[in-house]
Amino acid sequence: MKHTGFSALGRRTAAPPIAWLMKMTLDHPNLISLAAGFTDNETLPVKETRALFDRILGSARTGQSALQYGTTAGEAELRTRTVRRLQAQDGSAPGAGPATEYSPERLLVTNGSQQMLYILTEALCDPGDLVLLEDPTYFVYLGIAQSHGLRCRGIRMTPEGLDVAHLEQVLTRLQQEGDLSRVKLLYLVSYHQNPTGITTSLERKRAALDVLRHFERAAGHPIYLLEDAAYRELQAGNDPVPVSALTLKGGAERVLYTSTFSKPFATGARVGFGLLPEAVFKIAVRIKANHDFGTASLLQQLLLAALRSGTYDRHLAVLRKRYACKADVMLGALRKHFPPPVRWIEPGGGLYVWTQLPPRLKTGVTSRVFQAALAHEVLYVPGELCYADDPTRRKPTHEMRLSFGGAPLAEIRQGIARLGAVLAELC
Ligand SMILES: Cc1ncc(COP(=O)(O)O)c(C=O)c1O
Repeated sequence: MKHTGFSALGRRTAAPPIAWLMKMTLDHPNLISLAAGFTDNETLPVKETRALFDRILGSARTGQSALQYGTTAGEAELRTRTVRRLQAQDGSAPGAGPATEYSPERLLVTNGSQQMLYILTEALCDPGDLVLLEDPTYFVYLGIAQSHGLRCRGIRMTPEGLDVAHLEQVLTRLQQEGDLSRVKLLYLVSYHQNPTGITTSLERKRAALDVLRHFERAAGHPIYLLEDAAYRELQAGNDPVPVSALTLKGGAERVLYTSTFSKPFATGARVGFGLLPEAVFKIAVRIKANHDFGTASLLQQLLLAALRSGTYDRHLAVLRKRYACKADVMLGALRKHFPPPVRWIEPGGGLYVWTQLPPRLKTGVTSRVFQAALAHEVLYVPGELCYADDPTRRKPTHEMRLSFGGAPLAEIRQGIARLGAVLAELC
């Protein structure tokens, strides 16, 4: 029988590369993985979480509500605290003026921010629609776009973030081709980007939002700026990061801000959120209700207790130091072991170092570099996986994403030394 019985979406959905990378890790027990986006294992807040659960389950009142269904949008106090926290990070004191964009009524708690990205794409995009993304971008989002049958256009990156002149060129071309009405959103991982580590400045975000606003008149509908701030709290040093695009003129109506408690606290707790324009929030809640009618109450209560007690901020301070140390160790090892033609970007936070080889050296899974790395039992993410299928440009094939998140310090040193030996031979 030829017909599989699967829907168009089911048939279209490709296997995510991350599943393959994980399988590699499992199949090669001695492999050092600098590929996975895992967070630091040793600092996971096990004791703190046990104490918080003891507190939550220590009384019938709090225990029962933690073990009961909740509302689809999320636990009320968690939504309020999250919004207040975000408002403080954006430099606007709670209670200072109307600031309707910082309303808990617009905040949706999700099962990791991954679910938020999925829901927003479902809410806004039909097959054949266009999304604009950074070149390169978070490769799991590419899976969402692929599965929904979306067309993608990559927007170049510069050291200051998104290349807004290129964004304008791409939109102009789409307008000339009569495709502007299919453009739905610009997806921007604005802080310590996955995979490049680049942070987009507020000026760039302002310029990007202005460009979107300009073209949406001809598009005939809003073109949203989907600002994914997953790594915002993971800055390495003490220099402040830019405030979010929510602070910009028109931000309340056009910015879909998503972030997560999972990277800065515990990835296994899977609690993320989105602060959305009212109209988008309404649709996103309906879709979320169809997915699961609410993120696990127990996990929301855990995050709420962590925020309320100060455990979250104390843990975040520990994590930031830990990742700063891991980044230093990786960068030191790169300087020591990688041959001179190889270049990399020093990140100001996040979990990744983006590395560029000479263009003739391919890094894809069938390449000599990848196969030799595997033979030396070290794994990285081939850079080409982070580029959307965009027919208007060729995908670069000579880059790699190296993560210092999950591997212990000794493995970071050893993994980079092994990769350096491979590259010294092939460069
Ligand atoms: C850029 C980016 N956004 C979103 C996510 C999703 O994270 P979570 O679902 O744990 O919030 C990730 C995870 O790696 C990420 O790298």
